[in-house]
Amino acid sequence: MAKTTPLIVHPVTALDPRSTQALHVQVYERLRMAVLSGLLKGGARLPSTRALANELRVSRTPVLAAYEQLAAEGYVESRVGAGTRVVAEMPEHLLNAGPAGVTAHVRQARDEKRAIAARGNVMAREKFGPELRIGQRSWRTAFRVAVPALEEFPFEIWSRLVSRHLRRPRQEILDYHGAAGLERLRRAIAAHLSVSRGIRCSSDQILIVAGAQSGIDLSARVLLDPGDTALVENPGHLGIYGALRGAGVKIASVAIDREGFAISGRSNFGRNARVAFVTPSNQFPLAVTMSLPRRLALLDWAQSNGAWIVEDDYDSEFRFSGRPIEALRALDRGDRVLYIGSFSKVLYPGLRLGYMVVPADLVDAFAAARRFIDVHPPLLPQAALTDFIEEGHFGRHLRRMRMIYAERAQALSEAFDRHLSGALSIAQPQAGMHTVAWITGKLSDRSVSEAAAREGVEARPLSVYSLGRSKPGLVLGFGNVMPREITEGARKLARALDRIRHH
Ligand SMILES: Cc1ncc(COP(=O)(O)O)c(C=O)c1O
Repeated sequence: MAKTTPLIVHPVTALDPRSTQALHVQVYERLRMAVLSGLLKGGARLPSTRALANELRVSRTPVLAAYEQLAAEGYVESRVGAGTRVVAEMPEHLLNAGPAGVTAHVRQARDEKRAIAARGNVMAREKFGPELRIGQRSWRTAFRVAVPALEEFPFEIWSRLVSRHLRRPRQEILDYHGAAGLERLRRAIAAHLSVSRGIRCSSDQILIVAGAQSGIDLSARVLLDPGDTALVENPGHLGIYGALRGAGVKIASVAIDREGFAISGRSNFGRNARVAFVTPSNQFPLAVTMSLPRRLALLDWAQSNGAWIVEDDYDSEFRFSGRPIEALRALDRGDRVLYIGSFSKVLYPGLRLGYMVVPADLVDAFAAARRFIDVHPPLLPQAALTDFIEEGHFGRHLRRMRMIYAERAQALSEAFDRHLSGALSIAQPQAGMHTVAWITGKLSDRSVSEAAAREGVEARPLSVYSLGRSKPGLVLGFGNVMPREITEGARKLARALDRIRHH
């Protein structure tokens, strides 16, 4: 049998002759995933079509068709005499092509009898944060974005609370429940918001949702029709862009400057828009805080245009210095703000719990919509979380984590001053668990990010989050990275920058 590149054996061994998927599609899909997952690296040589066909015991035809498709889509290139190789630099749209199943849907949509809706296709093409993680390294990799300090979570206490409810489950958590979520949890959240965010609301205005993302999606469904316009931050949170585009909503982008969302004083500003989605406490990804004048201007805009504001307050609990500026919802006299909070940062993202505070007259519409989406999030974690808050563990955890993140923010700032000043300029993070480092000079953020990945560091390009052109920057997370690893990450990043500058 002809000799093949050993790497290739793994991704394609699992051809299934009984599958309804044609052989050439199976070969294509496996090779594509091998490239996207990094198993086949840039520049790696694919075996000859003959060798692979022999290896797989199929004719050359499906293998040739798969290679042609991969070449047509830009994953590989063939040169006479040099065979077929994985392209050295993968174009961005391919890197973000999403999991195999998704692309399969997009492809199937070309076959009219198996077409899916346009919105399904739109969402399949959208980027999403967790999929952009570079490599499959440890969860503690510097500077992975949006991961809290997972090892610091008090799992012993949590498991005690969960088992308590499991051992003697009340009917309340076993049966179907009202779409707003557990009443006791909603009361505990209302009390927390009143103390920590100055938000006064009744527990009836609170809906428990499956993380902030579910609140964003629900807002898009209930507040916006297809063809409507929403204002979004640029750069901004991909979860907001994707949910809005999936709902057929037009996105009007508003720049972020030193004071945050740059709402202008023009009388026609955002006149067509029905909703603005903002992250005022700690903008994602630029980590600026929206100034008070801007907050008041935005509230004015909503009031005079009959528009809504969705305030995504995903990590406001972690402010290291100064007094937190009041939430938009707390400043809102016209009852135009829908507030979203999440337990993804304060506890852990896999919990998938968050909440919304909605104006009293919108509660029924929101609760009604939920019944047809996911009914309500699972009740067991809601019950455990209620105890966690009521018994004081939540408050203690927040205070501890605030100190841990402040220490990590400080370590980041010091390490960047020491190893990267001149090449990157970074503002000392005042809140949360991410910041942005601006690239001085002419390098693209994508090239720096790729060079950093080669050194084992995740440094996500800011351009990923931008609508149109952006200043080159890196979005850096420090939530789940120990101070020692932060310093080491800064050194590696400096080495990466050195390498590309001298090539
Ligand atoms: C701007 C923004 N909103 C919300 C979230 C949290 O989303 P979820 O609560 O759905 O996990 C994140 C997480 O990274 C975020 O960056």
